[in-house]
Amino acid sequence: MPHLHTALCDLLEIQHPIVNAPMTPQAGGALAAAVSDAGAFAMIGFDEDESVESLREQVDIARSRPGRQFGVGLVAWVLERRPELLDLAIDVRPRMVSISFGDPSPYVERFRRHGILVASQVQSHKWARTALDAGVDVVVAQGTEAGGHTGSVGTLPLLQIVLAMTEKPVLAAGGIACGRGLAAVLAAGAAGAWIGTPFLLARESRTPQAARDKILASDETQTVLTGLYDRIQNKGFAAEFPGRAIRNAFFERWGDRADEMMRTPAALEAFREGKRAGDYDTANLYAGQSVGVLNRIRSARKIVEEIAAEAAGCIERASALLTRD
Ligand SMILES: Cc1cc2nc3c(=O)[nH]c(=O)nc-3n(C[C@H](O)[C@H](O)[C@H](O)COP(=O)(O)O)c2cc1C
Repeated sequence: MPHLHTALCDLLEIQHPIVNAPMTPQAGGALAAAVSDAGAFAMIGFDEDESVESLREQVDIARSRPGRQFGVGLVAWVLERRPELLDLAIDVRPRMVSISFGDPSPYVERFRRHGILVASQVQSHKWARTALDAGVDVVVAQGTEAGGHTGSVGTLPLLQIVLAMTEKPVLAAGGIACGRGLAAVLAAGAAGAWIGTPFLLARESRTPQAARDKILASDETQTVLTGLYDRIQNKGFAAEFPGRAIRNAFFERWGDRADEMMRTPAALEAFREGKRAGDYDTANLYAGQSVGVLNRIRSARKIVEEIAAEAAGCIERASALLTRD
């Protein structure tokens, strides 16, 4: 069977050009271990709300087999609020870190000194320039289709823009859920795909059952981009990076009335209670437009292998489109 091999496979010493995106708190150690064992690369998301001890535990799970590698996903404003996460990210010796939703330049040199590769998710031409000037090793073009926090430009236009800016490996993120999507971005020149939402449904992720049920029941028209949940949770994301979440009753009620929500104690209390109870009609559930492609729970290995095999088939078929007459 022919298989896909790109510059990313050489850089990270992986079999498949697939990175399991950092997703806080869902992308933990067990998911990273399973993705890595399947021959892809996995990022563990370092969440603002998770303790150093708990994050260390997740890393230990990822590393429970000697030689297994992993990456760490960091967010620029979280590093400002919790600088100890920077020390932790260096201390646990990942192969690669990502620094997203802000300027990675204050941190790149520190990681480089420790032999750690640096990636950054970018959402526009401007952020791609910032990441390249900072000297990152890998640029992730994150389109608006993506789950979680993202920008407003679609994956395909953004990918074309970023590919024209650099010879460094560029990964595509946002909306890639099966081999067709991976084949499309590889054919365009990406070195791989940075995939989040499909891994929310992996058996090994930390996604609660109620969230899995809601993802499975949602189609591609049912996500929204909103800063509502950042406002209520005092998150530091800039307004240009709202979060893509599955539309729910709480959003329907308060989506265009955030100021009023913040002045309504019952709304704040309902949200807190929804989070505590795991009620996704109230609590936020970040997921991308690819929810419409997803219809079953699989192991991380199956997700990786199915995407890689289907993409290889697509690329093989696409090569038949070439003609010399
Ligand atoms: C639930 C969830 C949480 C996320 N958390 C983070 C995060 O903490 N840090 C980060 O850099 N990206 C985060 N992302 C964005 C992913 O890194 C990635 O860009 C996105 O999942 C790719 O698009 P897709 O969801 O369509 O596959 C998150 C995405 C989701 C769905």
